[in-house]
Amino acid sequence: MRAVHIEKPGGPEVLKLIDRPVPEPGPGEVLLKVAAAGVNRPDVLQRKGVYPPPPGASDLPGLEVAGVIEKLGPGAVGQVGAHAMALIAGGGYAEYAVVHHRHLLTLPEEMPFERAAALPETLYTVWTNVFEDGRLKEGETLFVHGATSGIGTMALSMAKAFGATVYGTAGSDEKCRAAERLGFVKCFNYRNEDWAKLMTAEGGADVVLDMVGGDYVAKDMTLLKPQGRHVSIAFQAGMEAKIPIPILMQKRLTLTGSTLRARHIEEKARLTDQIRQHVMPKIVSGEIAAVFDRAFPLEEAVEAHRRMEAGEHIGKIVLLT
Ligand SMILES: NC(=O)c1ccc[n+]([C@@H]2O[C@H](COP(=O)([O-])OP(=O)(O)OC[C@H]3O[C@@H](n4cnc5c(N)ncnc54)[C@H](OP(=O)(O)O)[C@@H]3O)[C@@H](O)[C@H]2O)c1
Repeated sequence: MRAVHIEKPGGPEVLKLIDRPVPEPGPGEVLLKVAAAGVNRPDVLQRKGVYPPPPGASDLPGLEVAGVIEKLGPGAVGQVGAHAMALIAGGGYAEYAVVHHRHLLTLPEEMPFERAAALPETLYTVWTNVFEDGRLKEGETLFVHGATSGIGTMALSMAKAFGATVYGTAGSDEKCRAAERLGFVKCFNYRNEDWAKLMTAEGGADVVLDMVGGDYVAKDMTLLKPQGRHVSIAFQAGMEAKIPIPILMQKRLTLTGSTLRARHIEEKARLTDQIRQHVMPKIVSGEIAAVFDRAFPLEEAVEAHRRMEAGEHIGKIVLLT
């Protein structure tokens, strides 16, 4: 099969198209013929050598795929020929990928693969962080840094579909206006606006989804409402934060956060069941959808990574095999 591998840690140019044997599905696994694979910021970190795949995962990049079930491994349940999407711990940038059968989400045949492939990574991340740990409820307000990111646009779609109001930040006026056109009530330009003050003036937020870290954490705490929840999913501006303990105590805030990729098979199966039950109906109805930026052929993975690193994208970038 054709696959894209990381020749050595470095810039986008280290992504090379190679030939690899088609992987064999092991016990409980299925082989998926990949039609499309999503591109995520963690793939960029893996390419740079700072985010290695967890033990047992494919060394190829790619955390989400959509395609057709080709073959079942021993004991795997699934229907050959069915359309499905899945979260995987690696190996998405290829013509075939193995998926645990309990991590499959079956798709309606009419759903385009490039739209489906843009979903799993952000869907699972937002579900577990914003809805499970962040406990976002109908009528509440969510504040999202990285409003136009893959994660930010999915957080918007899901929060709106479950009856919440969404505000956020982005790094240019152009991106902020694009975010507002997508449905953010207001998006603040973090380069020249005091977003913590402006958001507090809007009444504050019940949940903050933070992918920036560093000194954002303390600022986020000032805009959280009493009993607000702060969820960290990345630390692009610094892995340490100074916490104002009096604010934590006075407002009875919860600080939490998580990673997704290295979670146990059982935990990912539990998340898949939750998403199948609570979120898939809204995906099938079109209420929840990924914001689609651009698709590139697999051979142009280098260009796809360049686009992501330049921060030119709004929503999700996808590779077509
Ligand atoms: N913990 C988990 O389970 C998990 C899972 C998936 C992804 N993530 C993380 O979530 C983040 C988003 O992933 P993605 O795939 O959606 O990537 P992406 O589309 O490339 O988004 C990255 C975003 O970070 C924003 N950003 C960077 N520095 C910022 C700053 N100083 N202030 C405010 N915003 C800033 C960028 O905003 P501008 O372009 O507007 O500057 C951009 O929207 C990544 O950091 C990724 O590692 C975590």
